[in-house]
Amino acid sequence: MISMAGGLPASSLLPVDLIRTSCASLADHRELFQYGASRGYSPLIATLNKLYPEQNNPWLICNGSQQGLDLIARAFLNPGDGVVAEIPAYLGALQVFQLSVAQIYPLYHINENGESESQPDLIQLESHFKTGKVKLFYAVPDFHNPTGRVWAEDTRIRVSNLCRLYGVMLIEDSPYRELRFSGEQRSSLTALYPEGCISLKSFSKTGFPGVRLGAMSGPAEFIAIAERIKQATDLHTGLPQQALINALLNHPKYPDHLAHLRNSYKSRHQQLRSELIKQLGNQIQFERVEGGMFIWLKLTSASGTNVAARALEQKLAVVPGAAFYPEGVIAEDNAIRLNFSNTDPSLIPEAVSRLARSFCSLS
Ligand SMILES: Cc1ncc(COP(=O)(O)O)c(C=O)c1O
Repeated sequence: MISMAGGLPASSLLPVDLIRTSCASLADHRELFQYGASRGYSPLIATLNKLYPEQNNPWLICNGSQQGLDLIARAFLNPGDGVVAEIPAYLGALQVFQLSVAQIYPLYHINENGESESQPDLIQLESHFKTGKVKLFYAVPDFHNPTGRVWAEDTRIRVSNLCRLYGVMLIEDSPYRELRFSGEQRSSLTALYPEGCISLKSFSKTGFPGVRLGAMSGPAEFIAIAERIKQATDLHTGLPQQALINALLNHPKYPDHLAHLRNSYKSRHQQLRSELIKQLGNQIQFERVEGGMFIWLKLTSASGTNVAARALEQKLAVVPGAAFYPEGVIAEDNAIRLNFSNTDPSLIPEAVSRLARSFCSLS
């Protein structure tokens, strides 16, 4: 089986060598095996302040950014509250919002000006805000999961202004932001709307998903509420994990690791892109991707669900686009999500041949 289904970083590129010494000496640090502060391990917080100066707000360390999402939902959402989410959306976020019995307001992307990537429909966004029911807007502006899209600078400014105007809390979920392999980095939403934005960072895509470490930063009053929920949930995130991620972030070779990761993903993406064009031609369409881990493949005349089912018979796992829609929203069944980060480059041509055979077996 070749899997292009998950959102996994490349196993072969996990930076284990950069934490080998720190792992070996963990037992010399008794303080890491005591209880710690709910906010997080202070050396790690100091590192985050240094790495992300634009986040001029307090931090709360969590068990992956997924826990940050859960804390936000439990801190700020009551049943029936409105949450705007870009559709299709990251499934883990939809699960959290659905557990809070929030009302999801779908925000679709449009491509009006022939831009390289589609952008969220800001007229639709404002009409959602005008209902007066929307409490928060959940956004993945950098290399969105599942579409791989990135918001233009102008979109970021206009969204921040709309959130400020309507008093909506903005959640910037950015696990892929550091994985830009071409084009220019854009402003973070936090920098544009510091008084109303909670930013979620993850060390799963640049570090290790198994360590389960993420962080949220936002206005002091929001973080204080989330911290109380965190305290009630698990007191604090494990100190050994926090110390390991701190060691990784401070390792002199960490910048080289990031550069290598970006280069590797760039070439995997490039290879996948050329194979798709070569082997599937006009049966598919996809937008340019400048980073992250995913290609959102639009099928010109096939169902994503059928192609994904046929692909499994060919021993290729892909996720049908319809899986990324919340309950109650009509899913478009004309896409599949392909992950390129965790597929060995030598397997990419074969993976695409299997995909092409899945299309053939439909007709
Ligand atoms: C958009 C998005 N947010 C959050 C997460 C969760 O990441 P973490 O491992 O930091 O909990 C993921 C994981 O794939 C994701 O794609």
